[in-house]
Amino acid sequence: MAPSVVLLLCLLSSVRSLPPPRTSFLLNSADRPLVHFSLPDVHNTTTLLLSDDGSTLYVGARDAVLSLDVRRSDAISLKGKVEWSPSDAEINECRIKGKNPTGECPNFVRVLQPINSTHLYTCGSYAFSPHDAYIDAESFSMVQNDLSAKGRCPFSPFQRNTAITIDSELFTATTTDFRGSEPQISRHFSKHGRPDVNQDSVSVLEEPTFVSSASDPAGQKLYFFFNEVGKEFSFVDKLKIARVAQVCKDDVGGQRTLQKKWTSFAKAPLVCQSPKQLPFSVLQDVFTLQPPEGSNTSETLFYGVFTSQWSSGPESAVCIFKLQDIQTVFDGSYRTFNMQTHQLSPLLGKHPYLGRCGLANATDSDLEEVKKSFLTSGVVKPVTDGPVVVSSGQQYSRVAAMRTKAANGKQYTTLFLLTESGFLHKVVLFDQGARVIEEIQVLTQPQLVKSIVLSSTKGVLYVGTSEGVTAVPVAKCSVYRTCGQCVLARDPLCGWSPTKGICTSLDSSPDTKVQDLENSNVEEVCHQQTRTSRDTEISVNLNEVATLQCLKPSNLATLTWTSPQFSNLPEKHFVQSTDGSLSFLVSASTFGTYSCEAEEGGYKEVVASYTVRQMAPPRSNPSRDLNGHHDTHSWKEPVDITHKEKSYYSELVVVSLLLVICICILAFVGLHMWRQRKPVHKVNPLVRKSPSLRLKTDSFTAASLPSELP
Ligand SMILES: *[C@@H]1O[C@H](CO)[C@@H](O)[C@H](O)[C@H]1NC(C)=O
Ligand SMILES: *[C@@H]1O[C@H](CO)[C@@H](O)[C@H](O)[C@H]1NC(C)=O
Ligand SMILES: *[C@@H]1O[C@H](CO)[C@@H](O)[C@H](O)[C@H]1NC(C)=O
Ligand SMILES: *[C@@H]1O[C@H](CO)[C@@H](O)[C@H](O)[C@H]1NC(C)=O
Repeated sequence: MAPSVVLLLCLLSSVRSLPPPRTSFLLNSADRPLVHFSLPDVHNTTTLLLSDDGSTLYVGARDAVLSLDVRRSDAISLKGKVEWSPSDAEINECRIKGKNPTGECPNFVRVLQPINSTHLYTCGSYAFSPHDAYIDAESFSMVQNDLSAKGRCPFSPFQRNTAITIDSELFTATTTDFRGSEPQISRHFSKHGRPDVNQDSVSVLEEPTFVSSASDPAGQKLYFFFNEVGKEFSFVDKLKIARVAQVCKDDVGGQRTLQKKWTSFAKAPLVCQSPKQLPFSVLQDVFTLQPPEGSNTSETLFYGVFTSQWSSGPESAVCIFKLQDIQTVFDGSYRTFNMQTHQLSPLLGKHPYLGRCGLANATDSDLEEVKKSFLTSGVVKPVTDGPVVVSSGQQYSRVAAMRTKAANGKQYTTLFLLTESGFLHKVVLFDQGARVIEEIQVLTQPQLVKSIVLSSTKGVLYVGTSEGVTAVPVAKCSVYRTCGQCVLARDPLCGWSPTKGICTSLDSSPDTKVQDLENSNVEEVCHQQTRTSRDTEISVNLNEVATLQCLKPSNLATLTWTSPQFSNLPEKHFVQSTDGSLSFLVSASTFGTYSCEAEEGGYKEVVASYTVRQMAPPRSNPSRDLNGHHDTHSWKEPVDITHKEKSYYSELVVVSLLLVICICILAFVGLHMWRQRKPVHKVNPLVRKSPSLRLKTDSFTAASLPSELP
């Protein structure tokens, strides 16, 4: 018990957590459009496979497999559909075994892999009795329907599994029984007459959750990423540990010992931990980033998303592991399982055959050692020693990564992290740390089963959920309207084109683009590109409340209003709301100019400026727009209204009349609502497009009304 207490006590200092997202887009925001695909009769579209040329997205769903045309970035269309469901009798059998007939007994497709140049292999949970099938990719029809696929995908649609095909052989990691308690890593459809192999005993894996798999063609090895209960630390009960396991692709097992069992199976801990902190030990997802063309495959990087077994709130981290480091650990020393003490202890002496390929003819005594010594002594540490991203406040569950070349020729990594609550965070890894440059809502509600697939050549990320498939473009540079905003965005995919005067994708045209990812020194890079904000004229009546809108260009900006009028009146006369708008009761001393300035990272930009004038009689100008803007990034300038001189008295009469009408309406509405006992509906100031009369009633406060009346 003592060591765990010590462990807990030394972990109380805090880590530098990810700053909040710079910009946020809610679901179906007009500024950051997404493409949705769904069919009324198809659900649980959560197993995704992108064709090599990026033109087709294959989708494993509930009782169906789909082929989607994704050649266009603005549309997804259905190319083919294969229906594949258990019979009524099979569903009934599943129900009798105690499973939910609608939630668990349909056929949830869990493996979709290209098995050769012409066919796809698929495996589904099929009424808690896994079945598999081949699909002809050309005609998109099912050609062969095998009976049992035990060991190729799980019985339960909620258990995680992973599969990978190499040279028409299928490698899977899944549970293999009805109860879901017998995990197995195995090879199927073995070629050249060699046997199918799996691991020696179920005890080499301890209640694992399989997360991901990858292959290293050069090293002839496969890697499986998973979580399990760690048995090497006997002092903590049910300690979760993230692992990577290896097997050799061509392993055929031993001759007498380890017949038809992996002789190359080994596993190693993956450590994702900040100094003096508790480890992030629960692996959620792994993305494999291939090295640039022509590089050694040992440069392959694995981006792992971890959560913490210990934290009470949402918390997660991303660690990057290099294949070379994993190879080094598997080439190192091992621990051995002592049959007498049931403990793992370091294995002394030289054992060069451990973790190696080609042990088909190894001696029985060597293979006996292999059987007991499958856990490495060394741990796999991230390339940066600790996490590259730590977020206290977000529970990340899926990750994709892309490497892009910035305007300065430097490579940057952009991560796409899916939060449990259904937002996609676009995170760029800068030299001074990670930043969330965009937050995009992609799901309406949390999902148990979901997946993401990145097409970095097309610049689209596909999200598969229980409702359908959503395509998210990796960038939308045109949301940044000014050179300043384009540079402050720090998006490696976007740059300001001084010739065109727009923020645009770096590879859109060969002209030079302005960027300053590390320093975002706008003054320096945008010196000739400063936008002069257009002045908006607003005409108002005396004693009405004027509300001047000002929208933050980013969540990180702070807004400041300036006006010569501020010196005429007490400070409390002007109210700045949390949405950035400025409200005040119009009097003779409030006519004049107002300007709203956004400050971010030391750079200041006027985002709105107004001239408030006295209103001409209402009959001469029935429509006007106090709002100025309509949504976050596009705003209309209101029509200019020529100001006419009017006598103070007639103005006063008109205003008083209007006020009386307003008060009557307010009283009536209030009474009506009180009677109906309905909650008062709050008007969102960002979408308010109502005529001025409505605006005034909304803006009046009971306190300011009587005291300020003429
Ligand atoms: C691909 O696999 C399918 C199913 O096993 C088989 O029918 C087909 O002949 C194979 N095609 C090639 C080109 O090997
Ligand atoms: C790749 O790198 C590893 C380790 O750095 C080295 O052993 C191997 O020979 C290299 N392979 C190639 C093809 O260069
Ligand atoms: C194992 O020995 C057999 C003959 O006994 C030989 O044919 C085979 O190539 C050997 N395999 C390996 C991997 O050395
Ligand atoms: C299937 O989708 C439904 C919603 O349509 C969801 O409630 C359920 O959890 C999903 N099941 C699986 C296995 O993903």
